[in-house]
Amino acid sequence: MAAALGDVAEVPAPPPLAWPSDDIHRIPFWAYTRPDVYERELERLFYKGHWAYVGLEAEVPKPGDYLRTVIGERSVILVRDADGQLSVVENRCAHRGMRFCRAKSGNATSFICPYHQWSYNLKGDLQGVPLKRGVRQDGQWLGGMPTDFKTSEHGLTKLRVAARGGVVFATFDDAMESFEDFMGPTMLGYFDRLFNGRKLTLLGHSRQRIPGNWKLMQENIKDPYHPGLLHTWFVTFGLWRADNKSQLRMDAHGRHAAMISTRGEAKARADVTGDVTVGVSSFKASMSLHDDRFLDVVPEAWWGGPSAVMMTVFPSVIFQQQVNSVSTRHIQPRGPNAFDFVWTHFGFEDDTEEMTRRRLRQANLFGPAGFVSADDGEVIEFSQQNFSADAAQSTLAELGGRGVGDTEHQVTETLIRGMYAYWRKVMAL
Ligand SMILES: [Fe+2]
Repeated sequence: MAAALGDVAEVPAPPPLAWPSDDIHRIPFWAYTRPDVYERELERLFYKGHWAYVGLEAEVPKPGDYLRTVIGERSVILVRDADGQLSVVENRCAHRGMRFCRAKSGNATSFICPYHQWSYNLKGDLQGVPLKRGVRQDGQWLGGMPTDFKTSEHGLTKLRVAARGGVVFATFDDAMESFEDFMGPTMLGYFDRLFNGRKLTLLGHSRQRIPGNWKLMQENIKDPYHPGLLHTWFVTFGLWRADNKSQLRMDAHGRHAAMISTRGEAKARADVTGDVTVGVSSFKASMSLHDDRFLDVVPEAWWGGPSAVMMTVFPSVIFQQQVNSVSTRHIQPRGPNAFDFVWTHFGFEDDTEEMTRRRLRQANLFGPAGFVSADDGEVIEFSQQNFSADAAQSTLAELGGRGVGDTEHQVTETLIRGMYAYWRKVMAL
């Protein structure tokens, strides 16, 4: 029968979601590309059951300071109100749903939606509704809101907030466990190592949009296999090599992880080679620096041994300490095929001016054009290109076996398997 004019062409239903096997060492390409999977991730990982990173207290130091950011794809505002308390409210007017705050950051005494000028205090309570009672004409009120309309029932969405060590997390989930329980004792220990109560100072931001699925960035920092192979800087200058003393640690769920590495003193220079540099094309024995201040590494007491700890807090953030450079990296998904990656470089209040300059110089290793992270963005992009082209394939994560567990070496993909064991459970896939 010929299709009648106006018939909607039938769209074939996507194949049912089924993991190809019971294992966690093969990850189907569709996990990185399917819009329905991505929507479920937003609901179950970003909007429920997890604390999400929003920013540093140092980004909103004074009363009235605010920072616009996102949790998943929902726009939120971190704000310090007049009495110094931190709030996180959704950037969505209770009237017509408008994303009213457009500035990236600023200082305010209230939030006013430009559309109809509904105004909110910095805690998100609705304060004023123009023409609420209507207009008065010929002795009577015309129009306006219904008489039973209560401003107290129409505030902005208020999120639960957890701040620790100067770092602020928030959640839409009222039933969420405490931040400390969410982290678990092992991860909390590494978190407190970096954020040990010293006041943080803000050194700067960099931002990039990476055309790949957001999980690939979590995987990148749960993958200690690649740094000594992909990154010329790491392997040549000994910052991260397979033969560095190292540990991999996870929380009880396998969702958060820490990669811990101690730079060998003898391997700190390019002229020292060994088994792990033989045949590694990114190792460049003759490479040296015109300005060696980039690697003017000064060990700090709070490191307590390791020269690098890279933490992934699932699903939204990475905490980086790589020698003297420290930063947070916020993962902001933008559909299944892209994410924004926002780096916040910081220091500590008791840093000398010399240490601040050192942190700033070493920050050149990282960020969109960083000596060791421009290439991470590229490999993620090139992976996503194939995931999109043939969703029936899968990636392989069998290095170090097929199970999940902490290790005293870094030649393993155990952290990636741990993440997918957790992901499959929460996603019911
Ligand atoms: Fe990397």
